[in-house]
Amino acid sequence: MTEYELKSAKKIEELRRKEEYYILAIESSCDETAAAVLKGKTVLSNEISSQIEIHKRFGGVVPEIASRNHVLAIKGVVDEAIKKAGVKLSEIELIAVTYGPGLQGALLVGVSFGKAFAYALGIPIIGIDHIKGHILANFLVHRDLKFPFLCLLASGGHTCIYEVNGYSDMKELGKTRDDAAGEAFDKVARIIGLPYPGGPQIEKHAEGGKLNVNLPRPYKGEDTLDFSYSGIKTAVINYVRNAEQRGQEINTHDVAKSFQDRAVGMLVENAFSAAEKLGYKEIAVAGGVGANSELRKKTEEEGKKKNIKIYLPPKILCTDNGAMIGAAAYYAVREGISASMLSLDANPDL
Ligand code: KG4
Ligand code: ZN
Repeated sequence: MTEYELKSAKKIEELRRKEEYYILAIESSCDETAAAVLKGKTVLSNEISSQIEIHKRFGGVVPEIASRNHVLAIKGVVDEAIKKAGVKLSEIELIAVTYGPGLQGALLVGVSFGKAFAYALGIPIIGIDHIKGHILANFLVHRDLKFPFLCLLASGGHTCIYEVNGYSDMKELGKTRDDAAGEAFDKVARIIGLPYPGGPQIEKHAEGGKLNVNLPRPYKGEDTLDFSYSGIKTAVINYVRNAEQRGQEINTHDVAKSFQDRAVGMLVENAFSAAEKLGYKEIAVAGGVGANSELRKKTEEEGKKKNIKIYLPPKILCTDNGAMIGAAAYYAVREGISASMLSLDANPDL
């Protein structure tokens, strides 16, 4: 161990016993360069520089372009987060950085920047799992939420239900067998000519649409909490192609509305089945698709009917951000995570 690593290991032990300390959190796993400063679980700043406009013309995230733009943005975003939080560099006691899953080159930018920053300040750095960040973001706003709880996570790369016992103990109860929910939103948007990212576009486009496009209800077998999105996506492709071949106009608002209804329906159904099966009285929602208004409305309605409390983070904490990485770091430290060594590397498949 280097002298810095020894010092970090000791410092983490000290933080473990502290109620509140300043954390600088960095996230760069996909197309948002983000940094936040937290004091314990209180968010002091949450800066996000989005690359959506850059990737839009390609219809999706181009990994190499994402990495290059993270390099250009990261210093400014971190500086701004620190400035807005009103803290001095010398007051920051921990750096947390997303080290996976995500795009390798994109992750590497955050990890390298974080390590250099931590080394320069002589403070520990810990690598954080992006998915756990999404889930634990709920603690930033829901003070009454406690472990264990059930969480529906739906993002661009993942769709799962977890029983959450802590940062280091999340039991997967079901997951998608093919596309992630967000990925399906993005692909269907592209099929009907809407720009990237498809989720918010479909949501907007569905307004005023009718539920009149017949899409299949995927059959996944009995007694499973798994998801499947490729069948619904293929049905949309077939619907659009058939209409084209017959020279018929399609109403894209109706397609968006019908797809959203099916996609959200499966998320809600599985989440409530899981709660019923395991006897949970609360469900937390996480991930980019959690920003979808229809999903938010449906979970709340169903929650009221079934007497299950629904925890929805504000939309800005659903999509990628730095604060969620800080929240996860806070719990990771409490649970005894070790400081990362300087060999900390990006792990795209974490
Ligand atoms: O969590 P996130 O920001 O990044 C990943 O970790 O993947 O999720 C991004 C995904 C994208 O697929 C995007 O289309 C989807 O979340 N999304 C939405 C909405 N906002 C973002 N999907 C449906 N409705 C939305 N309002
Ligand atoms: Zn994410």
